[in-house]
Formats: sequence, structure tokens, C-alpha cells
Amino acid sequence: MRVLVTGGAGYIGSHTLLELLAQGHEVCVLDNYTNATPEVLTRVRTLSNRTILDYTGDVRDASMLDKVMQDFMPEAVIHFAGLKAVGESTEKPLYYYDVNVGGTLALLRAMGRAGCRRIIFSSSATVYGEPIYLPYDEAHPTAPTSVYGRSKLMAEGILSDWAAAQGDVSAVLLRYFNPVGAHASAQIGEDPKDVPNNLMPYIAQVAVGKREALTVFGDDYETPDGTGLRDYIHVVDLARAHVAALDYAANHAGARHFNIGTGQSYSVREMVRAFEKACNRSIPTQQAGRRAGDIAAMQADPRRAAAELGWSATHTLDDMTASTWAWQSANPHGYDT
Ligand code: NAD
Ligand code: UD1
Repeated sequence: MRVLVTGGAGYIGSHTLLELLAQGHEVCVLDNYTNATPEVLTRVRTLSNRTILDYTGDVRDASMLDKVMQDFMPEAVIHFAGLKAVGESTEKPLYYYDVNVGGTLALLRAMGRAGCRRIIFSSSATVYGEPIYLPYDEAHPTAPTSVYGRSKLMAEGILSDWAAAQGDVSAVLLRYFNPVGAHASAQIGEDPKDVPNNLMPYIAQVAVGKREALTVFGDDYETPDGTGLRDYIHVVDLARAHVAALDYAANHAGARHFNIGTGQSYSVREMVRAFEKACNRSIPTQQAGRRAGDIAAMQADPRRAAAELGWSATHTLDDMTASTWAWQSANPHGYDT
């Protein structure tokens, strides 16, 4: 299939490009590089030995979208382009709604003009909010607690309404749990521009000597060791979920939500220990209070994705930590290395 990948130079997008290319799909990337570098696509081209059409532009730019649609004539779009920092979303709510909601609207309009009928959307488990029960299944009520989460839920709503009104289109809404890890080549990985907000890239930067110690946010949660529990998913498994979603979209009309997680969860301390094993050095930590907005535990019920997409995660926690370490140690300064 010809697949337009918005935000394809980003962390999840770049891994997905490699999986799409490996499965024989043709890809085209639209990215404005607000959180990525063109070096990513250079590496993806080298690793895959394939051509990738790419456009530098904003997903809210209608004329740019029309140009991409006319040149490439995509049969499906995977929409990664968006903003994802929870803290920043509170400070700049209009910017977040503009990019995450406005970008989705602009894209759907351009797809309509070009006759493109399939979209896979990057949503987040954060749309569920404080758990009423765990693991979350897709029927769990949604009550996001941040601007970022609300922007994702709004975009989900727009996509569902669009699919219902059109009838003959497909929208697959993937609610990612916590993506971690890197490509087996150690050439592609997560490269946060500023101080990492998320646990795994922070641990990796401590391990490589870029930061002194990990601050552990909270040790008084009602969890076995008092630290937060999350469902970490290897980014290559996540990338493969998009390939499965494309196949699904080709055969199903309407909008459908899927949890993309493993169904297992690990605490902050378990993650630190697993990483210490992978890098064979100790990770200094310092204890702090809870981070505002954090919840104690999150875990996916991934059975719908297994049953309907035919997709399940296969990578282990050791795969996640070993691949992160391989990427970080080979690229201590990320793509600037
Ligand atoms: P990322 O920042 O690495 O990738 C996003 C890409 O989109 C970047 O390359 C960025 O330059 C590009 N982009 C941003 N705004 C754009 C715009 N207006 N026009 C064109 N390109 C633009 O993030 P990621 O981790 O790869 O996440 C991809 C998607 O998945 C995002 O929508 C994010 O909200 C969602 N998501 C991520 C996580 C996570 O933990 N990484 C979890 C759940 C959902
Ligand atoms: C964060 C976002 C969430 C987003 C998800 C994936 C917040 C409040 N939530 O969630 O919306 O969908 O990332 O991108 O930002 N931790 C530490 N020290 C650190 C970093 C994290 O102890 O330096 C702990 C956290 O308290 C948490 C766990 O590690 O218990 C995982 O944190 P993180 O990787 O930021 O993911 P989420 O909290 O799930």
C-alpha cells in the first residue's frame, strides 16, 4: 500500500517506517522537524535500502497536504505528527489543540479532497485517566487529566464522527501504553531534545553519564514497592501494530479503538534494576515526592488487538532495556552523535 506517514521522522514514526518498508509498503513522510531531525530519514533509507519520498511541512498546512496527496496518492495515512509533552500542554493549551486537533482536521479534509479513505491515529492510554478498574479495556470510561490527553480524546472523537458520517472509510485509533526501546540496528531510537520527561530515556541518559541520577517520583503509591507501575511496550512491537492496523483498515469500515500494550506492568524500581542488568553498571537514584498528575498504575488489556488485529507484543523487558542501551551507548548524543 502507499502510506503517508505524518511525523514519520519522530521516535515511533521512524520505527514504523522500517516495519512498513520491510513488509513491502511504499512510504512518504510529512514532518516539520519540530521534534526530529532529517538525519533520521537518512538512516532509515540506509537501513532499508529503499527510497522514501519526504516533504518538510506542517500537517495543518492545507496546500502542503494537497501537494503531498497529489504527488503520492496515498491509499492510507498513519498520523503520528503531534505534540506530546504533558507539562508543556498545560502551559500552551491553544498550541496543543491547534496541532493535535487542528492537524487532524486539516488532514481529514485533505484526505477527503484526495479520496483517501483510511487513517491510523496515534492516540494514548492517557485518554482513560484515573483507572476505575485495571487493566483498562477499551470500554473503560475516558477522563483525561491533561490538555495533552484531552487533545487526543478530541481528535479520537472527530475521527469517529468522520467515519460514521462517511460510511465507507476506516479510522483505526491506537491507544499506546508506554513505548520504550529502540531498533535492533541501534541506529534508530528515542532522542529527546530537552531533559527527558519519560522514565526510560532518563535512565538511559544517566547510564551513559549525561545525567547524574534518576529522580524517582513517589514511593508511597499502593503498589508492591510503592513506585508507579506502567505497561511498557517495545517500540518495534508498537510499529508492527501499525502494519497490522493497515491490514485491518483495508477490510473494515468505521472507527475502532485498540489498546496497544503488553498486558504486563513494571514499577520504576523494576525498570531501574532491569536497565542496570542491561548496561552492567549501577544507576544512581534519588527519591522525590509524587509528580503532579501521575497515577499509581496503568496496564492494558490487549485482548481486542490480539483478536481483531492479529497483533500481540513479543518483545520482553530485557529486549526493551538492551535495545535502549545499545542505541544510547552507540549514540550518546542521539542523532547529533
Ligand atoms: P515524536 O515527537 O518523536 O514524533 C512526532 C513527530 O511529529 C516529530 O517528528 C515532529 O517533528 C512531528 N511534528 C510535530 N508537529 C508537527 C506538525 N505540526 N506538522 C508536521 N510534523 C509535526 O513523538 P513520538 O513519541 O514518535 O509520538 C508520535 C505520536 O504518538 C504523537 O502523536 C504522540 O502524541 C503519540 N503518542 C506517543 C507516546 C509516547 O510515549 N511516545 C504515547 C502515546 C501516544
Ligand atoms: C507520561 C505522560 C503521559 C504519556 C506517557 C507516554 C505525564 C504526567 N504523563 O506518562 O500522558 O502518555 O508519558 O508518553 O507526564 N518517573 C520517575 N522519574 C522520571 C520519569 C518518570 O520516577 O524521571 C516515573 C513516573 O512517575 C511513572 C513512571 O516513571 O511512575 C513512568 O513515567 P513516564 O515514562 O513519564 O510515563 P507516564 O507517567 O506513564
